[in-house]
Amino acid sequence: MDSAEKGEEKFAILQLPGKEPLRLPIIKGTMGPEVIDIRALGKQGYFTYDPGFVSTAACSSRITFIDGAKGVLLYRGYPIDQLADRCNYLRVCYLLLNGELPSKEQYQEFEGQIIHHTLVHEQIHSLYQAYRRDSHPMAVMCGIAGALSAFYHDNLDIYDPEHRYSTAIRLIAKMPTLAAMSYKYSIGHPFVYPRNDLSYAGNFLHMMFSTPCEEYEVNPVIEKALDKIFILHADHEQNASTSSVRLAGSSGANPYACIAAGIASLWGPAHGGANEACLRMLGQIGTVDRIPEFIARAKDKNDPFRLSGFGHRVYKTYDPRARVMRETCHEVLNELHIKNHPVLDVATELERIALSDPYFIERNLYPNVDFYSGIILNAIGIPTSMFTVIFALARTVGWISHWTEMQEMPESRIGRPRQIYIGKPLRAVKKQSKKTSNKQ
Ligand code: SDX
Repeated sequence: MDSAEKGEEKFAILQLPGKEPLRLPIIKGTMGPEVIDIRALGKQGYFTYDPGFVSTAACSSRITFIDGAKGVLLYRGYPIDQLADRCNYLRVCYLLLNGELPSKEQYQEFEGQIIHHTLVHEQIHSLYQAYRRDSHPMAVMCGIAGALSAFYHDNLDIYDPEHRYSTAIRLIAKMPTLAAMSYKYSIGHPFVYPRNDLSYAGNFLHMMFSTPCEEYEVNPVIEKALDKIFILHADHEQNASTSSVRLAGSSGANPYACIAAGIASLWGPAHGGANEACLRMLGQIGTVDRIPEFIARAKDKNDPFRLSGFGHRVYKTYDPRARVMRETCHEVLNELHIKNHPVLDVATELERIALSDPYFIERNLYPNVDFYSGIILNAIGIPTSMFTVIFALARTVGWISHWTEMQEMPESRIGRPRQIYIGKPLRAVKKQSKKTSNKQ
């Protein structure tokens, strides 16, 4: 395939067997690699083949930009480390949803809308009773989030911007309540109602850890650390769970059902489930002297074991979120006077060894967002099984921002990938004699 330029426009020239050279437009975004628009290929009787969409842009978007080579992550053009340092999660939610950081008045109005939608319908409380107490909280969240589509039939004209916005407000506001309820249910404690006088992160901690028996005091350092964790997990372009939300949404499905699709996809250990898997892996390694054994297993092609919290489809350098997470980890452990966290030494030494090992260097495998987050959540007292629930809580704003953007994009259409068929060629069902057919 060659390329050509005509004025401003650039083309890739594709020579297909027995056909005229095909000019495929090259499209340039604001930042990032150019893309080849292959939409004309279908009419030529060809598909492209790209399992896992390693080289495929499925849509255009204004929300998040990642430069995997440089370790850059921008939400609406703002660098993630500056947002984590200078904003709170609700300001970042406003930014992701609306495209700009809010003015003081805009923020106050947005915060008021969120605060006044944190309650969930009382009948949702009884849905939790259908689950075993020892259900994985992500199993509960998949079901409960999908069930929201049975409760909110008003304001659900997805072509009405007002309805789309009120759905976004409801989801961002209610996810912490639903998440905390999944934890309380699992330990047999009564559900705790949200409070309107607490911050978003403070309210979540209150709903997670307070009991009717005594007042719960929100620790401001933990509140700030959790708010930062929410910011770091808020969005990440076209990852597997966001793509699941977009694909479900492309059929015009109920937005709450689309979020349930995102939660289901996030649960996998290759994706959002890695934070839980990583802490369990660090616990399994146990001591620094066992690290070489696990590094060897991670390199062994016959062993399905991989280092959880390491590697990334896009980042081929340190995940910028992991940097912020590592600093936050030390801040929280110092604040809690935790001198020797049982797995922090293992994590630090594992990172050092892996980053100097040719296998990891050649494959650009670095710690990702999930490597340190589990240590912080564990130190805060959040059970390991709740780690991915927290990821889902934080990512809801990203999911609903992409869902909204897709509804507003004129180019959006139902997602329907094609395939290479490798099954049986056409064949006929053998006619059977009367006698045998009566028997089968
Ligand atoms: C998240 O997409 C997103 O943006 C996701 C996310 C978000 O915010 O939404 O960033 C959140 O999901 C982060 C990733 C969390 N997952 C993990 O930490 C699980 C461990 N990581 C891997 O499973 C893997 O790195 C993936 C799934 C993250 C990426 O897989 P890819 O892009 O398909 O890469 P690959 O499997 O083709 O790996 C390339 C090579 C292979 O070796 P070779 O075949 O070239 O010899 O690297 C090896 C892999 O075997 N490899 C690892 C490894 N990750 C990749 N080897 C050991 N340990 C690992 N963790």
